[in-house]
Amino acid sequence: MIRAVDVFCGIGGLTYGLRLAGLDVVLGLDSDASCRYAYEANNAGAAFLAADVRDVRFADFESRYSKSRINALVGCAPCQPFSSHTRRNGTSEDDCELVDEFARLVGEGTPDLVSMENVPGLAKHQSFSDLLKLLTSLDYHVDHGVLDFHEFGVPQHRRRLVLVASRKGTVALPKPESESGKVSDFIAGLNPIGAGEICPEDPAHATLPLSPINLERMRQSLPGGTWKDWNEALVSPCHNRAHYPAPYGRMRWDAPAPTITTQFCYYSTGRFGHPEQDRTISVREAALLQTFPADYQLFDPDTSLPISKLARHVGNAVPVRIAELIGRSLNGAVANA
Ligand SMILES: C[S@@+](CC[C@H](N)C(=O)[O-])C[C@H]1O[C@@H](n2cnc3c(N)ncnc32)[C@H](O)[C@@H]1O
Repeated sequence: MIRAVDVFCGIGGLTYGLRLAGLDVVLGLDSDASCRYAYEANNAGAAFLAADVRDVRFADFESRYSKSRINALVGCAPCQPFSSHTRRNGTSEDDCELVDEFARLVGEGTPDLVSMENVPGLAKHQSFSDLLKLLTSLDYHVDHGVLDFHEFGVPQHRRRLVLVASRKGTVALPKPESESGKVSDFIAGLNPIGAGEICPEDPAHATLPLSPINLERMRQSLPGGTWKDWNEALVSPCHNRAHYPAPYGRMRWDAPAPTITTQFCYYSTGRFGHPEQDRTISVREAALLQTFPADYQLFDPDTSLPISKLARHVGNAVPVRIAELIGRSLNGAVANA
């Protein structure tokens, strides 16, 4: 069995999927302590270490791996610095320090298996070239590429750079294998709620309130449509700019969702309107579209977190389904050894 450590583990999307594939994930490391509850509650046996990766050496967690097992280091450094959205908004393209930190850990420990996931833009960055060079110099077999997760059964358009590397046997990225998912398959059965409401049966099935004007905009939004469907009085000058068709949208039942970002709880930041209820999708619905199981505990019921924070946790996650497929690829490398 492969024993793994998950760097930048968040609430555990990657860990959970790897465990479904049979990997023994023993430790998750993340600087955001608010991820601890969800990570540990859903991944029994995996400990959460609240730490800044820059302060951690491979030797600090090496003892968690057993000598008799194959060890893996997996991690998804925060991806916002490389996304086209943040680039348009002036974020530095050169903020790759945390990818470099992941590479440093690989170099220090030369684990048998490595995997990382990030936004496609990282592929053109020096930090990714440096990681590839390092892996090659350490005799890893590497496969990487940009996958459209929709082709792997995830009910959203989400393109991400995925890398798998092995010093055991040859390793290959997952191949598209299932019917592409649509929104209705994942969130159709939930209790109806309104904007700003919390479902009594599931406190994660909750949304932020809408201002009166946004509530009216939502009412006039058609599934798959844009602000062009609204009465003119609701359209503000910024909507008329050519580059501004995407926000304030409503999802369609019969199509994949847009990429579930960390901003899905806001109506103005994407097509995050529910297909028929006058609200954005809830935290639970976003988690389901990220292919978390319906009973994934997203926060400690005794110390609930703000919806904006939960949205960050869920939007940041690796879809569980993709994580499971990555786990199977790593298993395949061991089988090939
Ligand atoms: C893309 S998310 C990872 C999501 C996670 N793999 C999952 O599947 O749920 C990146 C994570 O990196 C964490 N992070 C950011 N800066 C960090 C640092 N300096 N050290 C450790 N973790 C950090 C964030 O808190 C965030 O949870």
